[in-house]
Amino acid sequence: MATPQPVDTELTQAAVFLVMTLNSDTSVNAQVRDLLGDLSSLVRAVGFRIPDGRLSCITGIGSGAWDRIFGIPRPRELHPFREIHGVHHAPSTPGDLLFHIRATRMDLCFELATAIVSRLDGAGKVVDEVHGFKYFDARDLLGFVDGTENPSGQAARDSTVIGDEDPDFAGGSYVIIQKYLHDLKKWDAIPTEVQEHIIGRRKVSDIELPDADKPSYAHNVLTTLEENGKQLQIVRDNMPFGEVGKAEFGTYFIGYARAPSRIEQMLENMFVGKPPGNYDRLLDVSTAVTGALFFIPSSDFLDSAPDRQTDASPAAPETPAGQQDTQPRDGTLGIGSLK
Ligand code: HEM
Repeated sequence: MATPQPVDTELTQAAVFLVMTLNSDTSVNAQVRDLLGDLSSLVRAVGFRIPDGRLSCITGIGSGAWDRIFGIPRPRELHPFREIHGVHHAPSTPGDLLFHIRATRMDLCFELATAIVSRLDGAGKVVDEVHGFKYFDARDLLGFVDGTENPSGQAARDSTVIGDEDPDFAGGSYVIIQKYLHDLKKWDAIPTEVQEHIIGRRKVSDIELPDADKPSYAHNVLTTLEENGKQLQIVRDNMPFGEVGKAEFGTYFIGYARAPSRIEQMLENMFVGKPPGNYDRLLDVSTAVTGALFFIPSSDFLDSAPDRQTDASPAAPETPAGQQDTQPRDGTLGIGSLK
């Protein structure tokens, strides 16, 4: 199977989340494909300078950009993020490319983000940039430990990596991002015990409340999904961010899964409620200001991106005019097509 991008990498101290939109001009497509093909060597070059810095980058491609850059059929479940109008609102905001850059130190993340954006100079613009940090013992700015129930090891891979259900894109994943801003004054006025009911865990110890004590609207009740007796999990790497002077306190939600539908179902439960009206009270103090869905191709697919010439983009000089894309869609390097 194609090698996945390092979606389930160990959580880090620092992250940069970059969302970019691309110009509609078809001349940018080759520039983007070239960058995608060089990303792994860019990560190696920047990361090698601080070997224990664990620098990684996950690259996601939005549905509109997929069609423009590659011009081949989309991965089965790639579509624009669907806005939700429930008790609370989850907006859908623009995003063609996502770069989720992680390391133990911000200098590594910053350096890589700079290198990526300079390679895309003239091709588009950064529409959202968030610098996230780990806060004490992996807490969010609401004071709760965030990430405890994340699957790890094989369970993380099983919940995030596409297999036989979409053979052309095996080794890929999906990701949904949302940037949330918290009303901390309102949250801090809520008694700790009530906050614990909203999350479904104890605040200081992070111990889960017994099922009998959890309200049906607890965050960890609404986001727990089961199918045929098996839990449908996702891998999250939420990060706090903020600007004290602006009184901006946020959580950048990022969730990876082998099918976006399970994240969408969690969002439905949170924003509309399960049953409708029984919504997530976290949202009374947390406003989603962005929302986007991306496909995460396998590393092999990214490496071979420059060769994926399509009719939708201008022919590269070495490609005879009118020649069809002869590259495989199975995420391989396409060595067989070399002439
Ligand atoms: C669990 C915070 C948004 C999915 C948790 C926990 C916290 C938390 C503190 C408990 C500890 C843990 O297991 O990680 C937040 C905050 C959010 C947010 C502050 C944004 C304001 C979301 C969204 C989703 C989600 C949008 C999915 C669409 C989950 C899942 C769990 C979880 C699946 C684990 C449930 C379990 O198995 O016990 N979150 N979350 N969260 N959250 Fe969130």
